Amino acid sequence: MDSLVAAALKARENAHAPFSKFKVGAALEDSTGQIHTGCNVENATYGLTVCAERVAIFKAISEGAKSFKRIAVAADTDLLTPPCGACRQILWEFCGDIEIVLSNLNGKSEALRLAALFPRPFDRSFL
Ligand code: THU
Repeated sequence: MDSLVAAALKARENAHAPFSKFKVGAALEDSTGQIHTGCNVENATYGLTVCAERVAIFKAISEGAKSFKRIAVAADTDLLTPPCGACRQILWEFCGDIEIVLSNLNGKSEALRLAALFPRPFDRSFL
């Protein structure tokens, strides 16, 4: 199995999802090969919940990582779970047209690029 997918599956085990019970893991590979992981962290107010992808990205940025190669996302769904809209915006901001590997617990996976999921993004080029 792709080691990045394995890292996302492992991170998923730490998900704090008592409200939705929907556990997600993410693993982000930076340009040096280092892997930064994240899981979703929910809150009783619901709206303060942070998705696995954003946890991974913000952890990586806060550790000084600057550029990224790939991100794997793992969830327990037959139809592979894609990043939500908010995460797509954040991914575009920090990772550009990154490769995204969607995966589940049964060994199914699919690689695609962020631009396919997030066409015509708003970004700093408009400012
Ligand atoms: N979630 C993620 O962490 N990443 C996704 O790609 C989809 C949704 C989380 C947010 C919330 O904790 C739970 O899944 C249900 O929406």
